Amino acid sequence: MAEKTIGILTGGGDCPGLNAVIRAVVRKGITAYRYRFRGILKGWKGMMECDWEPLGPEEISGILPKGGTILGTSRTNPFKEEDGGEIVVDNMRRMKLDALVAIGGEDTLGVANKLASMGVPVIGVPKTIDNDLNGTDYTFGFDTAVNIVTEAIDRIHTTAESHNRVMVIEVMGRHSGWIALYAGLAGGADMILIPEQKYTIQEIVSTIRKRHERGKDFSIVVVAEGAQVSAEGKENEYVVSEGGLDEFGHVKLGGIGQLVANAVEEATSYETRVTVLGHLQRGGTPTAFDRVLGTRFGIAAIDLVHAGDFGKMVSLQGNEIVAIPLADAVNQLKIVDQELYDLATVFFG
Ligand code: F6P
Repeated sequence: MAEKTIGILTGGGDCPGLNAVIRAVVRKGITAYRYRFRGILKGWKGMMECDWEPLGPEEISGILPKGGTILGTSRTNPFKEEDGGEIVVDNMRRMKLDALVAIGGEDTLGVANKLASMGVPVIGVPKTIDNDLNGTDYTFGFDTAVNIVTEAIDRIHTTAESHNRVMVIEVMGRHSGWIALYAGLAGGADMILIPEQKYTIQEIVSTIRKRHERGKDFSIVVVAEGAQVSAEGKENEYVVSEGGLDEFGHVKLGGIGQLVANAVEEATSYETRVTVLGHLQRGGTPTAFDRVLGTRFGIAAIDLVHAGDFGKMVSLQGNEIVAIPLADAVNQLKIVDQELYDLATVFFG
């Protein structure tokens, strides 16, 4: 039987654990199935431009603890172009690919899903530090981000206490507050603001005041970048740092932390500072949990390729890795459980 050639790509924002997935896919693909691999460079951009590099034992050696992605990434959306889908289908043939493994979040896997419905043999692997992909209990990268943010909160705690300040920490989370909620809970935040809830400035101020009135002279507020806060009687709006949309139509968020800090300081006269953790949350080595999850996802993905079970995404359900239709993963986002948020509110104020 002719040797099969498999393409792998990583799309969207980078994420700790991507290299663990690549390593697992290639390692098992070569040793168990005798596949040949092509690393598609910079996500869907590489598929549009036939830009690839061979991927073999040498390329995957030593990459397990490395952050980022050895394949590079982009937010290119082939379907922004007329005939973009057909170009990808055509380029699959030109690059002699028998199947494709796409590692990404809602946008990358949304493209994979559309391609699958056009008959492209593709398998998806769920990636995002935001943990907001549907159909999987966790995405890899989330645990690393939560640990980074928790450590930051611990550090900010001691300086908050020394200076008797309100410290506002802005974290990633465009549509969902998983990072804010988990790290806020782990770090003992006095208030956590997430995109799934609506807040008024007055509510935030009164929570901080309540805490200070019961004798505390510092506070920690964790806010997800996509949280919406309004003045009473006004509409809630996202805080956008700069104009422009990416190819998937997302605005660039940022600035909610400063807005909250200004409002708290103005209303209470408590000295307030802001820390925006930004891309620190996405960089660097993955935690052991993310390395193991990425490895399990990678093995399951190449097994699906071998079984010819395409149009699927590997997912974690309980402690099992299962395959679900790509369509189920991208039809809606996984938002924060209300029950878990309610639990966190016990510690507010
Ligand atoms: O999609 C993951 C994410 O981390 C979001 O939380 C955030 O809004 C976005 O990436 C920012 O990514 P970039 O600055 O790379 O466009």
